[in-house]
Amino acid sequence: MSKFYITTPIYYPSGDPHIGHCYTTVACDSIARYKRMQGFDVMFLTGTDEHGQKIEDKAREKGVTPQQYVDEIVEGFKKLWEFMGVEYDRYIRTTDDYHVEAIQKIFKALYDKGYIYKGEYKGKYCTPCESFWTDSQLDEKGCCPECHREVKEAAEEAYFFKMSPFADRIEKLLTETDYLRPKTRATELVNNFIKPGLEDLCVSRTSFTWGVPVTFDPKHVVYVWVDALFNYCTALGFMNDKYDDYDKYWPADIHMVAKDIMRFHAIIWPAMLMALDMPLPKHLAVHGWITFQNKKGEAEKMSKSLGNVVDPFMLGERYGVDAIRYHILREMALGADSAFSNEIMIKRINSDLANGFGNLVSRTVAMADKYFGGTLPVEREEKDPDSDLISVITSLRDKVDVCIDETRLKNALEEIFTAVDRANKYIDETEPWKLGKDESKRERLASVLYNLLESIRVISTLLSPFMPNTMPKVWEQIGAPAEVCSYENADKFGVLPADVTVHKGEILFPRIDMDKEIDELNKIIEANMAAAKAKLSAEELFTPEPVGEQIDIDEFAKADLRVALVKSCEKVKKSKKLLCLQLDDGMGGRQVVSGIAPWYAPEDLEGKKVIIVANLAPAELCGVESQGMILAADNPDGGAAVVFPDQSLPCGSKIR
Ligand code: MSP
Repeated sequence: MSKFYITTPIYYPSGDPHIGHCYTTVACDSIARYKRMQGFDVMFLTGTDEHGQKIEDKAREKGVTPQQYVDEIVEGFKKLWEFMGVEYDRYIRTTDDYHVEAIQKIFKALYDKGYIYKGEYKGKYCTPCESFWTDSQLDEKGCCPECHREVKEAAEEAYFFKMSPFADRIEKLLTETDYLRPKTRATELVNNFIKPGLEDLCVSRTSFTWGVPVTFDPKHVVYVWVDALFNYCTALGFMNDKYDDYDKYWPADIHMVAKDIMRFHAIIWPAMLMALDMPLPKHLAVHGWITFQNKKGEAEKMSKSLGNVVDPFMLGERYGVDAIRYHILREMALGADSAFSNEIMIKRINSDLANGFGNLVSRTVAMADKYFGGTLPVEREEKDPDSDLISVITSLRDKVDVCIDETRLKNALEEIFTAVDRANKYIDETEPWKLGKDESKRERLASVLYNLLESIRVISTLLSPFMPNTMPKVWEQIGAPAEVCSYENADKFGVLPADVTVHKGEILFPRIDMDKEIDELNKIIEANMAAAKAKLSAEELFTPEPVGEQIDIDEFAKADLRVALVKSCEKVKKSKKLLCLQLDDGMGGRQVVSGIAPWYAPEDLEGKKVIIVANLAPAELCGVESQGMILAADNPDGGAAVVFPDQSLPCGSKIR
């Protein structure tokens, strides 16, 4: 059995995943399912890229350790993949021990071979992208060429990876082979990065610690791209004993990524593999972004701060996961961006799924039920005009195969829906409702319905990798056992038994009431945008209170501030504002009452360390005694934000 290895990028757990993240994963899932159906031994890998400054900063902001922070968000990613029907074979986390150890060995191997050396990095650094840039690479405003945010001058001792030895081979890889898809992108890479001379790549950092330590120089951590890119190999057991299928699956058949990380996969990744004399992946498929189409019809990047992030859970719950999978795959051509709009989505679902495919199935099944009580008679009258439908159906599989092999999923779906249209047209041509009225046309009617059922069998088989939840329901309705709906049978006609029995079932894709839904979806988006704007403007408009009366150090020292752990917490009965916290203060424990219930649920605080004023005179609030208070800051939105100290500090630590 031939192997097939496909990968998504490993995602940064720096926020909740959105519909844009779904694209690559759902696309890879569909290809993986198609290849499994073809009989390939498939390895489909996805995962999370959990190191780096950005994660360290986010964790600090939330008052948790980086590991706690990533653990929580990774759960969110896994839930989304399950919800979206993504069946990966392996999930890698770059914080997994085996990966960390393997990266240390890989770094050392590159060093021992002379491809990594120590130097000093001076340049412009973009913190969100974790990338250093040269002046010539910055955008016209002098900002990061990828995210267009400000960069800062930075210098640090660092290790570098030599890129120049690989320039010629990489240029050939991009221009003379079909590694890069679409190949039209090769020119921009060659002109922007290779022709000006490939610069050596900075591959370590000393400015943060949340990363893989360099074994032979532990104040350095491995720069995220070495750590991230090699996941594709360590997940198979490269340089580790956790898995044992590197020899079987490497090189990857397809890495799929979006355009913003093309450079890393098209230039840096092959160079690193060349340095270790490893085989190169066969293809890199690069797609554009799902952007958000605003009211003026312009495409905006999806961003939390604009409030235009499309939530896949919300859409899937409203319209069904398969409809959403179909929509995003059908809209995006490889290489180009695709603008998301609720109108386009609903039109697409209504026209292709409700009216097109759903209607084909429901009409066919309803007619078999009405005219033959569900079971077709075996007597038939075949006719010549049917040969056109039959050839469209039996030639479909080959066309879809080519699209899948060339990572053109939009085209694969277009081919399949051309066949759906042909089958619907066949109903109009043969007019079964007229045949049904004429007893002498019974045999002809049976042939027509059989041909339709066979067309649906082939179409639904080929659609099943894209819409895995719905197709088994179709098979149930057309009376086709799942094993008959196989890839082998998808280029044949006449597979269902002549006396096949159909079963009327639920409507597969209910028609969506456009006006009503657009109204509701617009309300959701407007609320998100208003919330994002309010948050921004609250921050922008915030003016700090004037500084209070001066005190001297001795006066300040009178306030005894300590670290304490919230062991448990509950709402104070009869009060909407108060929470009662049981604290471990390292000195026998105490109870504190705090007016933060409008902004915190008890479980938000339990298990966290806070700062208390330990020598405040006890007071009674709503009949509950409070032995001190916990520190919180004014939030620009009018709320209160508890101040969380470094969570590794022991209970009772004094703050001065
Ligand atoms: N951690 C790196 C990848 C390392 S792979 C060795 C990373 N992570 S990411 O979470 O920021 O992005 C993961 C992928 O999702 C990227 O390909 C990115 O371009 C893609 N997308 C993020 N937003 C997207 C859209 N709106 N539309 C399509 N893809 C999007 O980069």
